[in-house]
Amino acid sequence: MNIVILSRSPVLYSTQSLARAARLRHHSVRVIDYFNCDLIIDGIKLIVSYKGQIQTDIDAIIPRIGTSWTGYGAAVIRQFEQLKIFSTLSSQALVKARNKLVCSQILSAAGLPLPKTIISNNSQSYSSLMNEFDGDKVVIKLINSTHGVGVLLANKGTQAQNILETFTRSNQKSLIQEYIQEANGTDIRVFVVNNKIIGSMKRQAKAGEFRSNLHQGGSSTEEKISDQEAKLAIQAVGALGLKVAGVDMLRSKRGPLILEVNASPGLEGIEKTTRNDIAGEIIEFIENNVVQE
Ligand SMILES: Nc1ncnc2c1ncn2[C@@H]1O[C@H](COP(=O)(O)OP(=O)(O)O)[C@@H](O)[C@H]1O
Ligand SMILES: [Mg+2]
Repeated sequence: MNIVILSRSPVLYSTQSLARAARLRHHSVRVIDYFNCDLIIDGIKLIVSYKGQIQTDIDAIIPRIGTSWTGYGAAVIRQFEQLKIFSTLSSQALVKARNKLVCSQILSAAGLPLPKTIISNNSQSYSSLMNEFDGDKVVIKLINSTHGVGVLLANKGTQAQNILETFTRSNQKSLIQEYIQEANGTDIRVFVVNNKIIGSMKRQAKAGEFRSNLHQGGSSTEEKISDQEAKLAIQAVGALGLKVAGVDMLRSKRGPLILEVNASPGLEGIEKTTRNDIAGEIIEFIENNVVQE
């Protein structure tokens, strides 16, 4: 098969791991920087050109879209979708999963448990909205945050209100969320490929930090998840229409809560922590779905 990995750089861990897994299975692999793809729409013909070359003979694409390039990444995927090329990530699912607000609305509509979340543009109501939350702290997040950057823990009083006002004034969309204190700086990452759980790990924030992101100095260990957690992870991925995803969950007093679903989940943390061949599973998923002439 001819597989294209849409990635900003061939040296990224996940890109290399996927390329290696594909070559091991005797596929031909190309890495294309989607941001530098030219999209040609010529009447009813859609063409993707990269470095002056029209991209043809592609059996499948694996989009690895960075959060800063979601919009253009989705456009490139859409162009390939119109060409009926198999993709491990649909443009629609990417756009839905990337926006924390849209994602929460979809998951909630699907009956999945989430931390209580409020979105508001009204500075006047911030103080009364705080009464919606128990405890003396709330989590404030930029809607498009990633790697824990733009995720803050704040006291419910003037501190939270000042942060919200600053975000609103600088035109940054944010949300207020119930702080799940009992999670104790840990969360669970569940890796799902084609409705199957292929790895799970627990991430622990470094001392004095509540965010467990590995990019914020967190550490990870392999973790067995409960049947309920497995079911929720698969339902969440299904609700968003994803096939390859990383689901983050918090263990709360009232059971597991879904924090977010990552549409281009990194492979480094999960592969190194679980020693599972995650990239191989993704390639196998493609093999099972692309009909070769
Ligand atoms: N409501 C919350 N209660 C407790 N901890 C949280 C909450 N929201 C986020 N965290 C912690 O902060 C980390 C980053 O938050 P997350 O929503 O995943 O943002 P990002 O997309 O930037 O990773 C999570 O992995 C978790 O450890
Ligand atoms: Mg996260």
